[in-house]
Amino acid sequence: MSYFSHQDGVLHAENVSLSAIAEQFGTPTYVYSKAALLENFSAYHDACQGRDALVCYAMKANSNLAVLDLLARQGAGFDIVSGGELLRVIAAGGDPGKTIFSGVGKTVEEMQLALEKGILCFNVESIPELHRLNEVAGKLGMRAPVSLRVNPNVDAKTHPYIATGLKANKFGVAFDDALDTYRTAASLPHLDVVGIDCHIGSQLLDDAPLLEALDKLIELIDTLHAEGTHLHHLDIGGGIGVDYGVAGDKPPVPVGDYLGRLFKRIDAWRAEKHGGQPIKVIFEPGRSIVANAGVLLTKTEFLKPGAEKNFCIVDAAMNDLMRPTLYQAWMGVQPVTPRDGEKLVWDIVGPVCESGDWLARERELALEPGDLLAIMTAGAYGMTMASNYNTRGRAAEVIVDGDATHLVRRRETPAEVFALETMMK
Ligand code: LLP
Repeated sequence: MSYFSHQDGVLHAENVSLSAIAEQFGTPTYVYSKAALLENFSAYHDACQGRDALVCYAMKANSNLAVLDLLARQGAGFDIVSGGELLRVIAAGGDPGKTIFSGVGKTVEEMQLALEKGILCFNVESIPELHRLNEVAGKLGMRAPVSLRVNPNVDAKTHPYIATGLKANKFGVAFDDALDTYRTAASLPHLDVVGIDCHIGSQLLDDAPLLEALDKLIELIDTLHAEGTHLHHLDIGGGIGVDYGVAGDKPPVPVGDYLGRLFKRIDAWRAEKHGGQPIKVIFEPGRSIVANAGVLLTKTEFLKPGAEKNFCIVDAAMNDLMRPTLYQAWMGVQPVTPRDGEKLVWDIVGPVCESGDWLARERELALEPGDLLAIMTAGAYGMTMASNYNTRGRAAEVIVDGDATHLVRRRETPAEVFALETMMK
């Protein structure tokens, strides 16, 4: 269900009106629904009940400490891509022992930190990375748990910037090189080969490419098994998409249906080839946990109708929400208090000095200056991709829980934006 709905003509997050939030905290502000977040996580958690499975939330989608804390309390693990994200997990009370470390460019310092904190596994993406990790672990007198991110060369059928499982992408070890890479990993004294993983892309509406990738991983696991390398876990990555309301898009596959099909295949394979012996299954969902749990609340500053285009200039901008300009992403726009009156077709744009600074294009709305708008489904890859371009302090973040409102990140001031800078001596 949606936790953002109009009640008495005003858009609410759970039981709190967005106009009240704008009044209390100002705009632009990201507003999240706790219930939506927990419901999204439960879809994974429930489908994994009774199984050896771990949901490692890909925190790059939304890494606010309060979000991490809520998910950690539900038993979530985390998928991280930097030492900074590991420090966030720890600051939020998450368990490093349930944390996996993805990414193509892990530094020596990040590897050291992750080993010292005792993470569950490194998802390694290349042979040089294997050697570096072996050396770092050796110096610490430790063995590093390793999974290889295999690039299964499957077309995820999504935007090219967020497709990751094709040969042309920088990610993972090519499928054809995977066996040799596993052999290298197994020969290194300070590595423990424990798993296999892949992540083929993001915003997938269909699970067919994911099941195709699964089949390829299964094939490799069997070959490795025959060579005497036994893997403890299989990590299928994230990628399940959400409904952004794009006209003509089919709704994304429900998480429970996808996990059901995936477990069915895994069970059949284990029964046939491995005497029914289970294997731990790991997921790395990001968007499907947080996207529809958040909106970006913004205020109309000026209306600028023109001969070719009508511009609605709001106080949020591309620095707050990169997705539209970066991926030509379509995000829904809802007036907080819809008004009667003549509707015009508006481009919703920000104050940043770039023609690419737009949040939505060609939306038919009745608007007046001062009106509040909600950019919908903005909980994922919104705040985490925000920047300070034009010396704009980043937005505030608020979580609504029923009738209660919690400020979980205050608005950044312009002075804070340049606080780390100094003039030359
Ligand atoms: N695991 C790995 C290794 C990843 O690279 C990603 C996302 C995920 C898991 C989570 O994927 P999800 O479940 O969220 O699809 N900024 C883009 C999306 C970039 C995704 C990057 N990797 C956007 O706003 O659409």
